[in-house]
This record gives sequence, C-alpha cells and structure tokens, in this order.
Amino acid sequence: MASKNEKMEAIVSLAKRRGFIYQGSEIYGGLSGTWDFGPLGTALKRNIMDLWWKMFVEDREDMYGVDAAILMNQKVWQASGHVDTFADPLVEDLVTNQRYRVDHLLKDAGFKVDGLSFDDLNKMIIENKVKSPNGNSLSEVRTFNMMFKTNVGPVSDESSISYLRPETAQGIFTNFKNVVDCFYPDLPFGIGQQGKAFRNEISPRDFIFRSREFEQMEVEYFVHPEKWEESFEMWRKLVWDWCEAIGLPKESVHELEVPAEDRAHYSKRTIDFEFDFPIGREELLGLAYRTDFDLGNIQRVAGKNMDYSVKGTNEKFIPHVIEPSFGVERALMAVMSSAYREDEVNGEKRIYLKFPEHLAPIKFAVSPLLKNKPELVAKAREVFTILKKKHGAVMWDDNGNIGKRYRRQDEIGTPYCVVIDFDTLEDNTVTIRDRDTTEQKRVPIAEL
Ligand code: GLY
Repeated sequence: MASKNEKMEAIVSLAKRRGFIYQGSEIYGGLSGTWDFGPLGTALKRNIMDLWWKMFVEDREDMYGVDAAILMNQKVWQASGHVDTFADPLVEDLVTNQRYRVDHLLKDAGFKVDGLSFDDLNKMIIENKVKSPNGNSLSEVRTFNMMFKTNVGPVSDESSISYLRPETAQGIFTNFKNVVDCFYPDLPFGIGQQGKAFRNEISPRDFIFRSREFEQMEVEYFVHPEKWEESFEMWRKLVWDWCEAIGLPKESVHELEVPAEDRAHYSKRTIDFEFDFPIGREELLGLAYRTDFDLGNIQRVAGKNMDYSVKGTNEKFIPHVIEPSFGVERALMAVMSSAYREDEVNGEKRIYLKFPEHLAPIKFAVSPLLKNKPELVAKAREVFTILKKKHGAVMWDDNGNIGKRYRRQDEIGTPYCVVIDFDTLEDNTVTIRDRDTTEQKRVPIAEL
C-alpha cells in the first residue's frame, strides 16, 4: 500500500462496495456530513456498542444505564454553556462565500494552531495574508455555534426553541437525581448512555471521522470531590482495556494530555486518546474531569438541590465527575483500519479484514460446493440452520464460484467459511477455511 491516503481510499471503497457504509441520501445527491450504515456496517456498529455496554454498564456493579430523549429543554444547553460557548471559528471566502473552519484551513496550509484563541487565529490570517483554497481573500474570523436549532411544537417562538443534543452527557446529568432517588447508589458510581448526537460541523470531512450526525457512548462517573484522581486513573486504565478489546494495536494508541487552553469549557483535566488513523493521528476518545460544573449548573439554573448525602454521615456535597466519552464511528473507523490487510494468495492480490471474531459482522459463511446439486444444497441448508441457531450472524453464500465467495467473505472479515461437498454426504464432515491463514481443514459438522 503506497500511502496512508490510499489506505483510506481503499477502506472507503470497500465500505461502500461490501455494504458497510454509504453516503447519506446519496440517491438525491447526498447530504454533507451524513452517512448511512448498510447491513454489515450496522452489524459491526452494533457489535462495538454491545461490547461497550457489556464492559462498562452490564458487567459492572457501580454502573447504571439510561436512554434520555434527544430533544431537551433549551435551559439544559443554556446551563451547560453550550448556547454561549459551543462554537468553532469560521471564515468566509469573500468571493465565493464558501465557509471554512479556520483552524482546519490554517492547519492544511502548514500553520501550527494548537492552543490558539479565536483572536490569535484572526491575527494569523491577517499577518500571513492567508487566502481561501480558491485564492480569494477571507473575512474576519467569527464564531459559529455548532448546535442544530429547532422548534418543538406548532409555535415557532423563543419559548419553543430546542436543539438536537450535541452530547449525550447532559441526558445523564439531568437524570442524576432520578437515579440516586431510585437506586441509592454508593459513591463512586456511574451512569452510561449510548445514542445519537449532532454537531453542525463547518466542514465535515475524513469519511465518518467528522460528521454532523454521529453516535456517542458516554459515562459520567460521580465521585467524592477529593477522590477524583483515583477514579480518573481507573478510567484511564479501563480505556486501555477497551482499546485492546476492540483489537487496536497498543502502539497505535497514544495519550495526549490536553493543555488548559485547548480543553472544553467544562474540563479541569483531559486526556485525549489518539489513534493512528490512515488520515493521521487523531482523537479517538476523550477522558475528562468535569468537576461539579454540570451538576452545579443544574442546581443554579433549575434551582434543584444536587447534593449527594453520604449514607450514615452528615456529609453532603455536589459530586464531581469523570467522563470517558467514546465516539462510535471513530471506534468503528479505528477497528476497520486496524483490520485492513492486503496480501497475495495463489499469485493474486487479496484484501481481507482481520476483525477480532467477537466484532466480525458475520461469523460463518456457509456454501454448497455447487449450487446446482440439490443434495449438496439441502445438506448445506442443514448446516446453515444449525450454525445460525447457535451463532446468529451466519451468512448463506452460494453466489459465484468458491474462489469468488472466499474473496467476498475475506473482504467483509468473515473468520470462517464452511463448504459442503460430496464427502459431506458420505461422512458428515465439512471444509472449514480460516480467513487469516486461508488454511482449510475437514471437521465433523458436530464439532463446528
Ligand atoms: N461529552 C463530551 C463530548 O461530547 O465531547
């Protein structure tokens, strides 16, 4: 593979060709920053999300799950600071009126922009006479709020304003008191949520890496204010466990201690976990110490007491929060790019996805050697039914010759192909082929 971009292009092309990911609304010319998941992408995404839920909610005694509404009272976003500060810097091409995200534009032009304020970015543009990609002059830098605004109900006025949530986190904070009142959890404990989030990115790009509609998996972990560091360290380790569980090579994941000027408005400490994507080293997920920022804001704006009372004592305080925040699409893109392989089999180039078995969208493909032999087809259907009952994600594949079927299954990352041939009719054994080694073995059906 010649370059990183070629690898990215190969993955995007495979994702479309094999039914993982399609451009959103493609049939009508597309809608920028949106993507549709096809049958295999949906299965892969579900496997990633189910693994996360199991690891971080179901298997833990200290975790509770919620599923809050996407539309929330506008006060949520006023209190959280998103209405005032959830913005990106924007410039406009003065001739074409095309809009660009300033930090991306400058980065692409070779400038270092980390930690720069909006004013610094403005100065950088003016002092260096930076032009738009079309060679035209640029406007002043201004802020652009990334929340999608809408109105709830039949009347469009100030009181009916709502937003598509830009993070799932607030649906957790607004339910903190409900969970405490129903379940009396001891501190520390956490609440996890998965779901859609929306950001009106100025320039969505890099495939599903930066899109306008995406899926998050977030935990808000509530702790004693003086003990936040130990929970932060616990989650730091759990994040590494997660990266291993989804099959990311350790050497491709990097921690970045985010400097104060680059942290989100609510955070006192953040570690970004970055991954070596084909597009370069970029953020995979974040681990933030949100202090009592959010519960404190709810107490202030909603006028409801957010104190947690420690059982058996008079101690009361607003808990502090550790937030590991995972993006599903970024995890999926990291999984796909870690799994992507090219090699040669019998002198021909082969592409395969070396997914960990538990994430593979299809676990077994079952084929009759020849599809025009009814006795082989009947036996293969029998084997297919047995495997499907046991493993669910099993595909019937009788399209084209065996070589073509293997290529197709390799490209979608199916770990095992099972072929039923004339020997099967005699001795109830089948051929099972391993995706990674391409080795074939005969095994009894009962042992599959
Ligand atoms: N809740 C953190 C984020 O959405 O980035």
